[in-house]
Amino acid sequence: MPDNTIKSDNTIKTEILVHDLKVPISVIDAGAKSMLNRQEVYGPLTDKQVKVLKRIIRNTLTTQRLVNDVLELGRSREGVMITSDFPIFELVRSVLIEIFDLVDTDFVETIRKTQSYDELVQTLEPNGVRLSFDKKIWMTKVHLDYAKVKQILRNLVTNAFKHKASFVEIAGKIIEKKLFLKIKDDGKGIPPADQQKIFETYFTTGSSIENAIESHGLGLAGVMVLLKDMGGTLVLDSDNDQGAEFVVTIPL
Ligand SMILES: Nc1ncnc2c1ncn2[C@@H]1O[C@H](COP(=O)(O)OP(=O)(O)OP(=O)(O)O)[C@@H](O)[C@H]1O
Ligand SMILES: [Mg+2]
Repeated sequence: MPDNTIKSDNTIKTEILVHDLKVPISVIDAGAKSMLNRQEVYGPLTDKQVKVLKRIIRNTLTTQRLVNDVLELGRSREGVMITSDFPIFELVRSVLIEIFDLVDTDFVETIRKTQSYDELVQTLEPNGVRLSFDKKIWMTKVHLDYAKVKQILRNLVTNAFKHKASFVEIAGKIIEKKLFLKIKDDGKGIPPADQQKIFETYFTTGSSIENAIESHGLGLAGVMVLLKDMGGTLVLDSDNDQGAEFVVTIPL
């Protein structure tokens, strides 16, 4: 991995450019939301127009997240940490909400309404997500950089969703002052020849145009930068056709 301790002028320029995207993106977002939610002011919409506006809003959300992720990585390279106390359930729930927000907003409302761990497990199961947490761990508060841990988990869970056949499993443990998070799917897995390469920037396994649009090959490289910052590790376990299992370890 390249040494990122000293930022080049170009990195800073890129980060400022990315930062400046925030305003136009929120203007697009606000405009689309006004048209959708205030039809008495902006005029009635056809079903097709509603569909297009919803797609615009979903995509502004994705863009906002990409912008935040890039800025978060910049913060990491500078070694800036903003730590706080947050419970494990808050982390896992918010990652799931962010992911489902892009595909099924009604389901997100159902997730938000769940009151207990068991209820959440039952809600998620038919939608291909298995949670496996000890109830005590689920409620435990950890002291870490929330934005960074969330970005790590979101990237790994998003990958698992992209590659799963039928389910994604998220498990968590705390052993000897270390937080372990396991993210597993039952997809095709990662062939041994690629297992090192997937952590490099811009490496993706697909070659189609759709793949190039959806996969930038930046997620895992970013996860490594964030983990390095926190003294954490990422271990991959994948046999061909047996799915992929990623285990993140972060010292508490
Ligand atoms: N759970 C998984 N199962 C199978 N392959 C995976 C899995 N996670 C990652 N990979 C492989 O590793 C590659 C790199 O993953 P990475 O998250 O860095 O990039 P990406 O998902 O392609 O794009 P993005 O930048 O949007 O995250 C992927 O293109 C995919 O080939
Ligand atoms: Mg990814």
